[in-house]
Amino acid sequence: MNRLENRIAIIAGGATGIGAACARRYIAEGASVMIGDLNIDGARALAGELGEKAAAAHYDAADENSVKALVQATVDWFGGIDILHNNVALTSKEIQALDTDVTGIPLDTWELTLKINATSFLVASKYAIPHMISRGGGAIINTASNSGRFGDVVRTAYGASKATVISLTQHIAVQYGKQGIRCNAIAPGVILTDAMNALPELKSLIEPHILTPEFGKPEDVAALGAFLASDESRYITGQVFPIDGGASVHHPQLADVMRSSSSKGQS
Ligand SMILES: NC(=O)c1ccc[n+]([C@@H]2O[C@H](COP(=O)([O-])OP(=O)(O)OC[C@H]3O[C@@H](n4cnc5c(N)ncnc54)[C@H](O)[C@@H]3O)[C@@H](O)[C@H]2O)c1
Repeated sequence: MNRLENRIAIIAGGATGIGAACARRYIAEGASVMIGDLNIDGARALAGELGEKAAAAHYDAADENSVKALVQATVDWFGGIDILHNNVALTSKEIQALDTDVTGIPLDTWELTLKINATSFLVASKYAIPHMISRGGGAIINTASNSGRFGDVVRTAYGASKATVISLTQHIAVQYGKQGIRCNAIAPGVILTDAMNALPELKSLIEPHILTPEFGKPEDVAALGAFLASDESRYITGQVFPIDGGASVHHPQLADVMRSSSSKGQS
């Protein structure tokens, strides 16, 4: 499919995992893609692999001027912007470990998490939207998370940042819809990136809650991203799409009920 022919995309946080799969897919569908990332070596390696329709730019999502510069670098390099995929998230294990419960979390952990995971989405959108409008419209895709839809015992700042992303998605959809901008959020559950594969305990905790035979892969998210970036989704905006193997659609007790009935069946 060539649904993104002649489109120019930014993937903010695109060097690895879901972002890298999106870069591959958007280019396969005809787009040119600027891969923005703090991990510039990874972004450059991916762009090198993807050929002349890809470019890489260093940016730091924690720095507003750097996010603004990423948008400008895309316009300078490719000539405009049609698709913005905000995908970045804080990846420092040390800071993630401090993102605990409400009484335990240090304020600067909260602030940095919100800055990278949510404020940078606002900033990239703020500077990309006028370029999109000048080309007749565009599509913004925000990677949220199921963590933005539910409470948890830890990762308070991560959850709050993803809930903010969902709200931002709706506000952009409302404010710029008539100017041809659509904005949707993707809310992954567990997706088997390299980082997630390195957490077998978490995988085995979640596995009983997914309804599909296997966990999702970054390519599954990229397929949804390509659809939301393309005109095939032209009547869809302001929505949140969970991509979680059905983990969020059933009663919380389902896994316990199934475990209990299978143990009774065995006795
Ligand atoms: N993998 C999952 O199971 C899962 C589940 C729910 C949501 N998500 C979301 O999907 C998105 C991608 O996550 P992933 O799992 O592919 O992880 P990932 O670590 O592969 O991707 C995150 C990218 O952001 C970059 N990055 C981190 N800090 C940055 C900064 N300050 N400035 C610029 N770039 C920076 C990293 O270098 C990396 O390339 C994130 O928003 C994450 O919250 C992932």
